[in-house]
Amino acid sequence: MAKFIIKQSGPLTGEVEISGSKNAVLPIMAATLLTAEPCEIDDVPHLKDVEVMCEILRSMGAVVREDWDTHTLFIDTSGLCTSEAPAELVKLMRASIFIMGPLIARTGSAKIALPGGCSIGNRPIDLHNKGLRQLGAEIHMELGRVKASAEKLEGALVYLDFPSVGATENIMMAATLADGITTIENAAEEPEIVDLANFLKKMGARIKGAGTDTIRIEGVPELHGTKHPVIPDRIETGTFMVAAAITRGDVLIKNAIPGHVRPVMAKLMECGAVVNDEVDGLRVRGDLKPLVATDIKTLPYPGFPTDLQALFMALLATVEGTSTIIETVFENRFMHAPELAKLGANISVNGLTATVSGNEYGLRGASVTSTDLRAGAALVLAGLVASGRTEVSDIYHIERGYEDLVSKLRALGADIERAEDDETGAFED
Ligand code: EPZ
Repeated sequence: MAKFIIKQSGPLTGEVEISGSKNAVLPIMAATLLTAEPCEIDDVPHLKDVEVMCEILRSMGAVVREDWDTHTLFIDTSGLCTSEAPAELVKLMRASIFIMGPLIARTGSAKIALPGGCSIGNRPIDLHNKGLRQLGAEIHMELGRVKASAEKLEGALVYLDFPSVGATENIMMAATLADGITTIENAAEEPEIVDLANFLKKMGARIKGAGTDTIRIEGVPELHGTKHPVIPDRIETGTFMVAAAITRGDVLIKNAIPGHVRPVMAKLMECGAVVNDEVDGLRVRGDLKPLVATDIKTLPYPGFPTDLQALFMALLATVEGTSTIIETVFENRFMHAPELAKLGANISVNGLTATVSGNEYGLRGASVTSTDLRAGAALVLAGLVASGRTEVSDIYHIERGYEDLVSKLRALGADIERAEDDETGAFED
């Protein structure tokens, strides 16, 4: 197994280019199942999760060509020969569930193992099932698998008890080929929903309201192939914004969309960082004045993103004062707290609330473990400011969701390298 070896680094400075969005490209790849015509997806991040989705599509008969020089995928599902996805692939990531709606709409059936993914909560799929049943699908759970079938999907009114991103995406995709009109109420409003809707509309789907809490889809008989560039990754953007602040650096984040990270900008400025929307990108400075504590409450978009909660916990552990973090989206998303504590952070967790007593020079290098994708990223950033040397293990979590993280950080001045578990790294001790 591989690990990251990180030494205390100075302030990060320079510029970084944000890759395409993991959470936009994965449902868009699944949406190619809705047509037998070829699709081209551009600005695709080269990530483990993208590779897994490519393999899932190939296992069902699709032809998928990857061009990582141009960050382009060419996907042709005309050869789709089954509506069953292999469990060993599906269990590798939560996003596998995105193929359920398109498969039912295209073939009338789907057989999928319950998806895996981060252990940040039990992550049921009851809202996915509720919406697809309201469109007319019969869905049974048996032996850890979801079996779905539908003669023909009929448009319906679907109310989501929680604005689930994945459920909104699955139901929206299925509804594009249903008879009649589907309205999703209390829909998720994330930018990745809008990007998926834009892809579907280029395929000929009729969708209004994506990005609001009410999405209206008028079904059409069939969809055609298209070409689409994926939006930049707002969570990677936020990760580098925090990296600039936690190291008290000065970083220009190119290719970022400021409108996708407003809560992150607001919270960093509350802490005393300076964030400017410049011509070439977002410039984040943590070096202009001492940073101070603030409070965070995660919410569905446009609230503060749960995916950046761990990153902010690392930052708040290094600023003077006491901060409160409330996690409202997932029920088990503080697994990074004990790992940050191994680095010297002073954090107490009580249910869905974490209290962080920050100290600018309180972190000391240690060996820590990534428990999930964003927790791992938080440990990397903490390692950059901890004294001495930090080793972060189980980095496969991190490599699922960040493209070229080591080279991007090193280009900004970070002392970080990737090594196998039995290696001690190039650093002198
Ligand atoms: C997506 O996960 C993202 N993943 C997550 O990013 C992100 O944290 C999450 O949305 C929230 O923004 C992808 O897009 C691949 P949800 P998803 O359905 O769709 C509950 C990352 O780090 N729920 O909005 O699984 C659920 O348990 C990942 O990139 C139900 O109860 O999230 C959770 O508590 C982590 N029943 C809450 O809703 C359901 O049927 C939000 O889940 C579905 C969800």
